[in-house]
Amino acid sequence: MVKTTKVYLKDEDMPRQWYNLAADIPGGLQPPLGPDGKPIGPDALAPVFPMNLIEQEVSTERWIDIPEEILQILSRWRSTPLHRAYALEERLGTPARIYYKNESVSPAGSHKPNTAIAQAWYNKQFGINRLTTETGAGQWGSALAYATSLLGMECKVFMVRISFDQKPFRKLMMQAWGATCIPSPSTETEAGRQILAAHPDTSGSLGIAISEAVEAAVSDPSGGTRYSLGSVLNHVMLHQTIIGLETKKQLALFGETKPDVVIGCVGGGSNFAGLAFPFVYDKINGSDIEIIGVEPTSCPTMTRAPYGYDHGDTARMTPLMAMHSLGHDFIPPPIHAGGLRYHGVAPLISQAILDDLVAPRAIHQTECYEAAVTFARTEGIIVAPETSHAVAAAIQEANKAREEGKEISIVFNLSGHGLMDLVGYEKYFNGELTDYALPEEEIARSIKTISNYPKPNIVTK
Ligand SMILES: Cc1ncc(COP(=O)(O)O)c(C=O)c1O
Repeated sequence: MVKTTKVYLKDEDMPRQWYNLAADIPGGLQPPLGPDGKPIGPDALAPVFPMNLIEQEVSTERWIDIPEEILQILSRWRSTPLHRAYALEERLGTPARIYYKNESVSPAGSHKPNTAIAQAWYNKQFGINRLTTETGAGQWGSALAYATSLLGMECKVFMVRISFDQKPFRKLMMQAWGATCIPSPSTETEAGRQILAAHPDTSGSLGIAISEAVEAAVSDPSGGTRYSLGSVLNHVMLHQTIIGLETKKQLALFGETKPDVVIGCVGGGSNFAGLAFPFVYDKINGSDIEIIGVEPTSCPTMTRAPYGYDHGDTARMTPLMAMHSLGHDFIPPPIHAGGLRYHGVAPLISQAILDDLVAPRAIHQTECYEAAVTFARTEGIIVAPETSHAVAAAIQEANKAREEGKEISIVFNLSGHGLMDLVGYEKYFNGELTDYALPEEEIARSIKTISNYPKPNIVTK
């Protein structure tokens, strides 16, 4: 008999609401602060985001309805399949049952369109016709380009220089969807010009690109432009929870009552949150689940950076957010997982770490590529370099289960495919990638810039 290797949901069984962890996070969330160090209200964000998304950003409602029109667009590729990785299990000789949620089947190739569609839709409802954004690996930029093209809006993307140079096809995807993509730092904004004057050869960073995109949005005199962020913020995590909510139903169809281990890679944190938060809810309510967020050793935000207030961008245009941060002017080494090179991590994930609900882990890049190649040669999918971190942790957990003889279930988020990222694979095959753990002095230097910032109350439950 043919074994079931994948499960979809019928359209009528798709989740109709997003899950908002802000309603349940035991330690609560620290408020964002303005330049004077005082908590800001929703109005302070109005030049940057439309009010309907700001309302979601500050909401503590547990369940938020997904508008019918958004569901209609998402249903073009959702539900995404949940696969059972029989071939990988066999290769590893593990008693663990390994599942992966395949977000690579979206038109842009990753989980990012889940929030891109929602954000473009809410902006349009609010009368906005043009969005600006940044992109690291190019996945987010192409997702927003796709979303804005469906909704008839304009889009401008500031792409981190190293990825712009390494991934010309991502730029062409954005162009195919009608967006403009330029390398960051650029000479188009004050923030970009200042960075270029100080560091003419910089490979760029997400923090710099965010500064440029925010500036480009708020300086549009027509008022018809807003900025869109692909990760980190509460409303982005919210939109991604459709991943975990679908996964729960799909695991049940596989006959699983609950997963033992849930894994996702973490840049700003959105794909991890998307899969994990519905399970964090179960964990808060007593379920025994290990939830692991994985980052690169070269940009160890969750595992080694302090928790404190910092800006989301290099030019300090965003409010101060309470999060684990390596410092807003940290420029991570140019590793190949461009989407994981961010100095901070979502405030909701930071608090979930403090609350002991999420266990962070850092893995070296060669182990990640080795895992990605094993995965390609068993399951067949060539994953994004970012996703390879989740694959590596899933393999670590499956090997541990073999050593301990435990028949556990593991589910990880396959956040995107790597078909536009093969240059990284080439460097791995040529033996050009080395492992790099960020030196302690480098962390000490970079967090000095935020040492005088207000300190959040650390509340844990
Ligand atoms: C495929 C893929 N996975 C993961 C990430 C990391 O972002 P996040 O932590 O917001 O999911 C990115 C970011 O570009 C990505 O492209």
